[in-house]
Amino acid sequence: MNEYILEVQNLTKVFPGVRALDNVSFKVKKGEIHCLCGENGAGKSTLMKVVSGVHPHDSFNGKVSFNGKETNYKTVKDSENDNMAIIHQELALSPYLTIFENIFLGHIKTKHGIINWNKLIIDSRQYLKKVGLNENPETIVSKMGVGKQQLVEIARALSKNVELLILDEPTSSLNDNESEKLLLLINELKNEGITCIMISHKLNEVMEIADSITILRDGQTINSYDVKKDNVSEELIIKQMVGRDMTHRFPDQTHDVGTINVLEVKDWSVFHPEYPDLEVVRNASFHLKQGEILAFCGPMGAGRTELMMSLFGKAYGSRSTGQVFVHGREEHFHTPKDAIAKGMGYVSEDRKDLGLILIQSVKNNISNSSLKKLSYMGIINKGKETLEAENYKKSLNIKTPTVNQIVNNLSGGNQQKVVLSRCLLADPDIFIVDEPTRGIDVGAKYEIYSILKDLVKEGKSVIIVTSEMPEAIGMADRIYVMNEGLIKGELSRAEASQEKIMTMALKKIEEN
Ligand SMILES: Nc1ncnc2c1ncn2[C@@H]1O[C@H](COP(=O)(O)OP(=O)(O)OP(=O)(O)O)[C@@H](O)[C@H]1O
Ligand SMILES: [Mg+2]
Repeated sequence: MNEYILEVQNLTKVFPGVRALDNVSFKVKKGEIHCLCGENGAGKSTLMKVVSGVHPHDSFNGKVSFNGKETNYKTVKDSENDNMAIIHQELALSPYLTIFENIFLGHIKTKHGIINWNKLIIDSRQYLKKVGLNENPETIVSKMGVGKQQLVEIARALSKNVELLILDEPTSSLNDNESEKLLLLINELKNEGITCIMISHKLNEVMEIADSITILRDGQTINSYDVKKDNVSEELIIKQMVGRDMTHRFPDQTHDVGTINVLEVKDWSVFHPEYPDLEVVRNASFHLKQGEILAFCGPMGAGRTELMMSLFGKAYGSRSTGQVFVHGREEHFHTPKDAIAKGMGYVSEDRKDLGLILIQSVKNNISNSSLKKLSYMGIINKGKETLEAENYKKSLNIKTPTVNQIVNNLSGGNQQKVVLSRCLLADPDIFIVDEPTRGIDVGAKYEIYSILKDLVKEGKSVIIVTSEMPEAIGMADRIYVMNEGLIKGELSRAEASQEKIMTMALKKIEEN
């Protein structure tokens, strides 16, 4: 019997202007967890799309064999019929359908053309149980958080009798607890004989879970390792990914924090857009100094994003109460435009829904918050627009053949860099970035951190909303810890540790 479930030989996939995969070969053993690592744009997602038939057989060169047989997939449906399942970087459930409808969508068994809905609901329970999701199968998917949606995707794969499960950055939108649960589930599936390929930028997870690791760089396979036999470390993976040694994860240049408050928020409460009595953020008070980097930490759902978005011209919430002072003056922003006019900038955590216009070019996406600056008497200076976009392409190392490329064609991490560029070009004094390094590779993270540090050196101020505690500790002058809609406490850089942040997040606050 063949030891390998998947064999890829000399695979080359070219898009206009981009050689996404360049003679890639790698093998996946039956029953193992195989992790794919590589920088943003290295070709990881493309490789998995080729393997699973998202990119049809006639669109690439090379050979893919599944269970010893050369594949000839024309659509993803063909690979599903072979018991392969791919869960994409951006989730692909139908948001307005229920859990059980999503589980069985596209492969509903009928009897004489009739669907037995009750049976589907009952059957779906067994898969939900398996993935540890304790939800009513009739729940509408969009009402659940990303972590749970992820589990529905896996339940869907299991309902199709999957042999090879491909997960493209499954934990990038999950909190630590959810991620840990997902990794346990993948391990359980492995014990049941399911092979798994996982793409991840979180190298600690890779080290925890992988039996084998393959590293891609610029569309080429650099190396494959057997984790048990070979002496693999995070440092080695990073070195192979970026092609050089990286001794520091954070830039260590120092900056001076000023004395003036550029932003002061007092007793700020925010109410849910659909349930106007529900307080999502309660009595938040905090301040940001000139030249300071603040981090807002806490588990997902803590209210951090809602707080920031509501401050940014009521971009969230039905109403809010409290006071906001910018440069010492009380402001009443009604729209994000008002906030931008007073020097605030906000980079959303949800780049697909709020951050980018996917069908537009990289250039247009970068310039569209700064059109005034790029125009003279109402006419956009196209040359200047291109030049600015080119500058960011270079300084943030955005991987795209030209700035005229449609954003949708960029890899996940490179899309994130476009969102950041747009905010940088608008040149705010108060720069709020929500999960700025989600889905970003270690090398590019360092570049983004350096840019944020440069901003505060110029006297600007930065707020980082992050679920990654090392990021908060490595970057911030002060950390506010949020949970359950409350600011639970504050830590200086010197006192901060992961334990302290976690304890603070879970601390009970006396109701008054
Ligand atoms: N449909 C497409 N059209 C044009 N170019 C594409 C398309 N899909 C991917 N590319 C390009 O192929 C290269 C590899 O992209 P891919 O999405 O595979 O990267 P990745 O390794 O998954 O990166 P990330 O970690 O950022 O998700 C990138 O340069 C990307 O812009
Ligand atoms: Mg990708």
